[in-house]
Amino acid sequence: MQRNRRLRIKQSLIDITAENQLNVNDFVFPMFVKEGNNIKNEIPSMPGQYHYSVDNLAKEIEDISNLGLKSVLLFGIPNHKTEDGSSSFEGDGVVQQAIKVIKATNPKLTIMTDVCVCSYTSSGHCGILNNEKGIIDNDLSIELLAKMALSHAQAGADVVAPSAMMDFQVESIREILDLNHFENTAIMGYSAKYYSSCYGPFREAADSAPQFGNRSSYQMDIRNSKEAILEAENDILEGADIIMVKPAMLFLDIIKELSQNFNHPIAAYNVSGEYSMLKAAAEKGWINEKAMILEMATAIKRAGAKINITYFAKELAKIIKDIQ
Ligand code: PBG
Ligand code: ZN
Repeated sequence: MQRNRRLRIKQSLIDITAENQLNVNDFVFPMFVKEGNNIKNEIPSMPGQYHYSVDNLAKEIEDISNLGLKSVLLFGIPNHKTEDGSSSFEGDGVVQQAIKVIKATNPKLTIMTDVCVCSYTSSGHCGILNNEKGIIDNDLSIELLAKMALSHAQAGADVVAPSAMMDFQVESIREILDLNHFENTAIMGYSAKYYSSCYGPFREAADSAPQFGNRSSYQMDIRNSKEAILEAENDILEGADIIMVKPAMLFLDIIKELSQNFNHPIAAYNVSGEYSMLKAAAEKGWINEKAMILEMATAIKRAGAKINITYFAKELAKIIKDIQ
């Protein structure tokens, strides 16, 4: 009988046979851009993460670039919210300005933008409410999301990432982009975005908590996995270039499922709750933070996500450099 042998002789041999290698190209660093001046404030629920005003972005972008990171994902926090979320598509809005500054600082960086209106609407919902029915109006919402995506593309975004979980949001964005000759602007669909409790710290950071009700009518039921395949299939048919699973750590099975069913690049979002849990335990000295960060990122890649959107991007870039 033939038995399998595990090669444990030399570190270099272990490394050469490792099935997955983390690479600094894999990481996307999420950033919160706040309207105002001279802001660099630490987010209480997410230690080590900051709100930046546009005038403070260049320095941070230089630091990120020096670490070898290649991509950022922008979230905007406007000072004023409106019922119709219209400040989301203004040419001089906070994200639109940020894109221009980042592009001028490092034109090689891939700029991704979150396309959702929950930080812009007074309701805190990801879509527009139909006042008569008191529910989200899907058609009005995707029209608004399309305008928002177009304004990001016009400012210079390379990838727009709709996260509102409205039906046909990718299609409506692809349509308006093509119509305006932004064929080369890519779309990363938040395809399998679950109704998760892991977004709490982010909502504090983005000031985007719903003012009534919750997001269960548009985000996915955590009990389903086949539904994730349907959602990804829809996004691909509607024109998504990259499909995403979110959150990452609690949904590794979904990442695997999508990677076995599709050939599109898969992104996973290692979300705020996952970040803050680790940070809190590390602060108490209960875990080895660096080892945990490395293990988490490795698990995400092993499951099948090429792209890892993570608040640990800067730490990961440093850790990888150290171990190589
Ligand atoms: C906005 C959005 C959310 C996240 C990304 N885009 C919050 C939500 O859906 O409530 C979560 C990111 C994180 O928790 O790190 N729709
Ligand atoms: Zn939203």
